[in-house]
Amino acid sequence: MQTNHSNGCGCTSRRGFIGFSFGAVAAVGGLFALGAMKKTWDPLPSVRAAGFTTVDLSPLKDGEFSQVEWRKKPIFIVKKSADMKPNDNRDIVIGDGRYMVVIGLCTHLGCIPSWNAANKQFKCACHGGEFDDSGLNTFGPPPRPLDIPPFRIDGTKLVLGETGPEYEKLMAQA
Ligand code: FES
Repeated sequence: MQTNHSNGCGCTSRRGFIGFSFGAVAAVGGLFALGAMKKTWDPLPSVRAAGFTTVDLSPLKDGEFSQVEWRKKPIFIVKKSADMKPNDNRDIVIGDGRYMVVIGLCTHLGCIPSWNAANKQFKCACHGGEFDDSGLNTFGPPPRPLDIPPFRIDGTKLVLGETGPEYEKLMAQA
């Protein structure tokens, strides 16, 4: 009587095929799992994009104040007019324009000062601190000027959150 089933019924090759199939499915599953894990580890696109903010300065008129947000902080921008004092250690110069760009948080305890266009100064309501149109502390408890955010100039645009040679130069002078 014949007892060898491997040739007659094809069991060996079927077993091999089933084993191979399971292996292939496991390998593909593993790859999907790795892909999913990598997606979990990578920062979300919104987080990556939140690192910098691009602002086109060309629409600003002389003496105009503008506020944008960068990394959840207020950024104050003023295009200096002819009657404002230039400050080569702090102004950002793009073409013919001269801009004051600072983080709008008081250097005393972090309140948000407000811009007074008539006096061309920032006033902090919390303890009466004042800053001039270059962001220099001029009165009250603030111990230092308003901070300049890292920036890079790209044509008429300011890329906040990236460090360009103009920013490095200002920091070296500060
Ligand atoms: S927080 Fe601005 S003066 Fe105190």
